Amino acid sequence: MVRFVLGLTVLGSATAALGATYAQSDSHQGDGFYKSFNFQAISDPTHGRVNYVDMATAQADNLTYSSGDTFILRCDDTTVLSSSGPGRNSVRIQSNKQYLDHVSVFNIRHMPEGCATWPAVWEVGGDWPAGGEVDILEGVNNQSPNQATLHTNPGCTMPSSRSQTGTSVNNDCDADADNNAGCGVQAPSSNSYGPAFNSAGGGWYAMERTSSFIKVWFWSRNDGSVPSDVKNGDTSIDTDNWGKPFAYFPGTSCSMTEYFDWANIVINLTLCGDWAGSSSVYADAGCPSSCVDYVNENPSAFTEAYFDFQWLKIYE
Ligand SMILES: *[C@@H]1O[C@H](CO)[C@@H](O)[C@H](O)[C@H]1NC(C)=O
Ligand SMILES: *[C@@H]1O[C@H](CO)[C@@H](O)[C@H](O)[C@H]1NC(C)=O
Repeated sequence: MVRFVLGLTVLGSATAALGATYAQSDSHQGDGFYKSFNFQAISDPTHGRVNYVDMATAQADNLTYSSGDTFILRCDDTTVLSSSGPGRNSVRIQSNKQYLDHVSVFNIRHMPEGCATWPAVWEVGGDWPAGGEVDILEGVNNQSPNQATLHTNPGCTMPSSRSQTGTSVNNDCDADADNNAGCGVQAPSSNSYGPAFNSAGGGWYAMERTSSFIKVWFWSRNDGSVPSDVKNGDTSIDTDNWGKPFAYFPGTSCSMTEYFDWANIVINLTLCGDWAGSSSVYADAGCPSSCVDYVNENPSAFTEAYFDFQWLKIYE
């Protein structure tokens, strides 16, 4: 293990010498996701009205499906739930591999939409929040735009002025502060999330993590500025050519090596729960009834509550 880590350090400095050039180390597409991710039938730590199922159940119920370059993850949209029984069946998958310095590029055609939905594409280290959390694509109840957020141990903060196209909503990343709000940055475009994201045909999310910063970019499907290495999923990428990220989290008052550890990639879809289901957040979004009743009684409201990934590529 020590040898392995040392080896990576040497590789890391060799890469640094080349600027921001990375080589593809993993490419996930279609049924490849079933080999590189595991389905976590755990209870939702954010108290959502969901029942996360294992891979066999998800496949049998078509909550996951793959064909060619399509990989679907969804929640159940056919069952009326008993208010005293378990929540709506849904999925949470986690990568088998962990990553330190890397770039993740997600090519997404469709993301879950609808009142009560709280989808997330994120990365998390061990012993939360000690290993850090990076939320890349996350939101609730169809409310655009997307927000990228870090959650950490106490002591990690972000400067108020930084080089990004998005808008900071909070600069203290401490998961214990402000009800675990974290330090979030909203993307500038409404098509970064929900129905507007989907009607544009989705797009690409990319996250770069180094020992000195974390950056998150978004390009909508028909955005002329999408870099060709992102669009084509090239085997080698150069993040120096990608322009300003919408979210820039520099390590100036947050040592990246101290607050962020080896991380797994997680994709989950919860319903209601601490954020989406908060009565004011739910009502402010113009959503009907109460969140939990709506989930229990209206399966057909969740036909658009699915992810469709064209691919996911990791560069190191
Ligand atoms: C789903 O994703 C969000 C990402 O921010 C996370 O806070 C929440 O705990 C996740 N739920 C589960 C069960 O993983
Ligand atoms: C499963 O879901 C996929 C994608 O939404 C769909 O194309 C397929 O027809 C579904 N299969 C069944 C058996 O319902």
